[in-house]
Amino acid sequence: MTFTPCHVIGNWKMNGSREFAERLIDELRLKLVGLNAVEVAICPPFTLLASAAERLAGSILALGAQDMSAAEEGAYTGDISARMLRDWGVSKVILGHSERRLGHGETSAMVLSKVQQALRHGLQPVICLGETTEQRAQGRAEQVVSEQLAPLLAVLDRQDWQKCLLAYEPVWAIGTGETATPEQAQDMHAMIRAQVGRSIPLLYGGSVKAANALELFAQTDIDGGLIGGASLEADEFIAICQAANQSKVG
Ligand code: PGA
Repeated sequence: MTFTPCHVIGNWKMNGSREFAERLIDELRLKLVGLNAVEVAICPPFTLLASAAERLAGSILALGAQDMSAAEEGAYTGDISARMLRDWGVSKVILGHSERRLGHGETSAMVLSKVQQALRHGLQPVICLGETTEQRAQGRAEQVVSEQLAPLLAVLDRQDWQKCLLAYEPVWAIGTGETATPEQAQDMHAMIRAQVGRSIPLLYGGSVKAANALELFAQTDIDGGLIGGASLEADEFIAICQAANQSKVG
């Protein structure tokens, strides 16, 4: 059996300055040591990627972006291409985050195009799925997540999937402090697992904190977390990475 590490990815969203990034990265580099069972990445905003890449050089931390254009290059004002991300030293890219789907009208078809473009350029997509409060209240959570997954399943082949990470992020849990219970998260992860197979890492996201991380990551089908607010605080983020490591090494 191959050993699959846990993944912890920090999504900084639209936060930070150069000074903030340098301080946080230095602290992470200093304190994130001896974690052999977890792969850690941070995703600062575009404007901080270049300085973050410099600051991260030679460390075990990977660099990710928060979005990307599906187009190759050209007349796309305000967009950033996969090639540009590679040029900055980025290796992962969050795609289909609910703040993009809901705030910027990104459809699952658009997310698929971005995933394909990321794969063409050797970037690892971190594909986000998740239902809203209303959808869960209507008993449609699994249906909504399956619908988000369907276009990806129809097009991506096994080799493509091997290069992807998936993140289940219930919209009602993002930035609200209301984390999904380990059982709620596990149930959804098991449903996703049944569709994508064993070897795709499934991350949970939505108000993960140091205090609830271990219980979540200990679930059978949860292979780590996508962390928003708590990734902006060094001690919280480090404790979450330690919990991820512990969930794998026991
Ligand atoms: P949160 O965000 O941890 O602040 O809830 C998670 C995310 O949106 O990725």
